[in-house]
Amino acid sequence: MRRVLGVLSGKGGVGKTTVSTNLALAMHNLGEDVVVVDADLKNPTLGIQLGVFDYDNTLHDVMEKGLPLLEAMYIHKTGLKFVPSHVSLTYLGVDSSKLKKVFEEAYFTSIIDSPPGLGNEALSVMEVCDEALVVTTPSLPDVAGAMRTIEVAKSMGVVIKGIILNKVMKKDYEVTASEIEAVTGTPVIKVIPWDETLLRSLSYKQPVVEFNKYSSSAMSFYELASKLTGVEYSRPSLAKLKSMFKLMGNKL
Ligand SMILES: Nc1ncnc2c1ncn2[C@@H]1O[C@H](COP(=O)(O)OP(=O)(O)OP(=O)(O)O)[C@@H](O)[C@H]1O
Ligand SMILES: [Mg+2]
Repeated sequence: MRRVLGVLSGKGGVGKTTVSTNLALAMHNLGEDVVVVDADLKNPTLGIQLGVFDYDNTLHDVMEKGLPLLEAMYIHKTGLKFVPSHVSLTYLGVDSSKLKKVFEEAYFTSIIDSPPGLGNEALSVMEVCDEALVVTTPSLPDVAGAMRTIEVAKSMGVVIKGIILNKVMKKDYEVTASEIEAVTGTPVIKVIPWDETLLRSLSYKQPVVEFNKYSSSAMSFYELASKLTGVEYSRPSLAKLKSMFKLMGNKL
């Protein structure tokens, strides 16, 4: 079934690529046929999060040379399908409006990582999305950015599935989920804690869902994947103990 789910944000660095990568991997592990696509055409980092740096064709080639999307689709060692973008500065001038044609042919579930804000590249992603998740942190400027993005995406006919509140540390100065829901009129469908294991997983060149499925962020990604696919998932009991043993194993 064709389903194009964009991962959007108003501000940069809130966790779009992290959410795209780990949500897609969790959905894949729950049995969903899903492809994660790097449409952050000027600053692509999906390959970095997946630990893959070398590929022949990318989304840029699909857009510029009219290649079929399948020519730029790779299978990660976890089995997850992904479409990277070139990190080379040579491709800075690509015309993002060509994304529309690329996704006209898509017949599968895709999760699209996007650039932040409301520039042309971000608007081009919104143009091809049926639905979107909007990522923010509990910081006021990020929430203000999310409000603007939600308004623009909605005006373009994108169905906002919900807000992902990321990097939550439960500090008293953080904007709460209910405050965000009140100002945006949009439900916060998942809260993802700030998680050091996630940062460590980057140094092992693995998404956290692969690196340590018992970590607090990985379990949150599984819960989000379960919500979006309808496939049942419940947090493993003794997750903290299992997480500790897993990390010790990685350090040995
Ligand atoms: N829940 C989390 N806990 C700790 N660190 C996180 C969490 N989520 C994301 N990060 C870290 O925050 C940084 C920014 O994340 P990411 O690259 O996913 O953001 P982004 O929104 O895609 O950024 P950009 O707008 O630049 O594309 C990364 O170093 C990532 O590992
Ligand atoms: Mg990103």
